[in-house]
Amino acid sequence: MPHQSYVIDEMISAKTIAARVEALAAEITDCFRDTDKLIVVGLLRGSFVFIADLVRELDLPVEVDFLEASSYGDGMESSREVRILKDLRSQIEGRDVLVVEDIVDTGFTLSHVRHLLSGRNPARLKICALLDKPSRREVDIRADWTGFEIPDEFVVGYGIDFAQRNRNLGYIGKVRFTED
Ligand code: PRP
Ligand code: MN
Ligand code: MG
Repeated sequence: MPHQSYVIDEMISAKTIAARVEALAAEITDCFRDTDKLIVVGLLRGSFVFIADLVRELDLPVEVDFLEASSYGDGMESSREVRILKDLRSQIEGRDVLVVEDIVDTGFTLSHVRHLLSGRNPARLKICALLDKPSRREVDIRADWTGFEIPDEFVVGYGIDFAQRNRNLGYIGKVRFTED
């Protein structure tokens, strides 16, 4: 449970997200137009809303798979230790893979996952992240597609949690702590 009470201020509306997801999907579709079946990999749990919206906008044959990585637990600070809690079911060797992530903060999660998956020799490995907080980066990694660059605010919604709460908001909001 969060230690302090907080309110959530809207930062990116559901409508703005939907328009950006559509534009990202058009670029991704174009990039992978020669692929016979793209494997889209969502990083659980944060990416579950984004991947659901994104794959429905892709005009491509896709397979969907998930990998569960966790570094924050219930805290606000990255543990900098990424644990793989659930691995892929698909074999990705020789295949085209798109990793879908909700947010890149320190970069530890994505860089760990990229290293893990590239070791399995996919044909192409690309990354799409909805949000990027470049000012927080500790590991050098960039997604191939980014939805929005955001300032260093603690954000929730559209899959992203604060201590496992608020993943079900339709928009991205920022957490503002209140007195008491
Ligand atoms: C969050 C978020 C990203 C990662 C980004 O996941 O969903 O996966 O942290 O932070 P980083 O760039 O500093 O590594 P979390 O560990 O909270 O797990 P969750 O997706 O299950 O919420
Ligand atoms: Mn995550
Ligand atoms: Mg989390």
